[in-house]
Amino acid sequence: MIEQQSIPAMGSDQKLAQTKNTFFNMLCSHKYSYHFDWLGRPIIQFPQDIVAMQELIWEVKPDLIIETGIAHGGSLIFSASLLALLDMCEAIEANKEFNPKRSARKVLGIDIDIREHNRVAIEKHPMASRIQMIEGSSISEQTITQVKKIAQGYSRVLVCLDSNHTHEHVLSELNAYANLTSIGSYCVVFDTVVEDMPKEMFPDRPWGPGDNPKTAVWEFLKSHSEFVIDKDIEHKLQLTVAPDGYLKRIS
Ligand SMILES: C[S@@+](CC[C@H](N)C(=O)[O-])C[C@H]1O[C@@H](n2cnc3c(N)ncnc32)[C@H](O)[C@@H]1O
Repeated sequence: MIEQQSIPAMGSDQKLAQTKNTFFNMLCSHKYSYHFDWLGRPIIQFPQDIVAMQELIWEVKPDLIIETGIAHGGSLIFSASLLALLDMCEAIEANKEFNPKRSARKVLGIDIDIREHNRVAIEKHPMASRIQMIEGSSISEQTITQVKKIAQGYSRVLVCLDSNHTHEHVLSELNAYANLTSIGSYCVVFDTVVEDMPKEMFPDRPWGPGDNPKTAVWEFLKSHSEFVIDKDIEHKLQLTVAPDGYLKRIS
């Protein structure tokens, strides 16, 4: 059982926050988020965020997960595997036959550049039957129209934004996709932590402190009271790339 009462205390522990920030930046200087696989595919995430996503997927039980930013496909395979487990658990509970290849649930991944070797590996993965990919910029009219059309067929939608991390791009993604998030579900914006890191850590990136996913979230929330930041998640994770990025849709 989760020790719920100890989580706010962790969130307000200033000494822990300082130590955590130092430790987090040190980990990033060693490219920590590039060290992990999920079911054989590289997933560019911190393990803590992977656990948080597992908890959210179990809680929301989405039938569609929309993800911008595919890279090597690890996060798509992760989401698809959790959807497969949801199908399996529901079949067991209903005392029904579980056909691992059939599912009404889907992960929809979008990337501006799906490298051929990544596409081949994703398409031949055992989780592939639950995955659909779109190649194109996540903020192009064509992609947005396609995603919205696909989303019409689903009722519990979870959204993850993890592509280009500039303020302008993420704000455009939020404006395009956040409203596809079902009430009670989440729109997760990754790499909001860039705002809290030294600008020297992004020498060759167009994003940095002042121009990143967190500044986009803050801007978006000014006119979108249907979303709130779920602070409990970052308080319990401590090591997360998505502080202020776990947005819960409440209305
Ligand atoms: C951080 S990686 C995604 C990591 C992946 N979600 C994971 O957890 O393994 C970012 C990806 O965003 C893609 N990207 C960059 N700009 C984009 C855009 N305008 N539209 C869609 N994808 C974009 C890049 O090609 C890259 O593959």
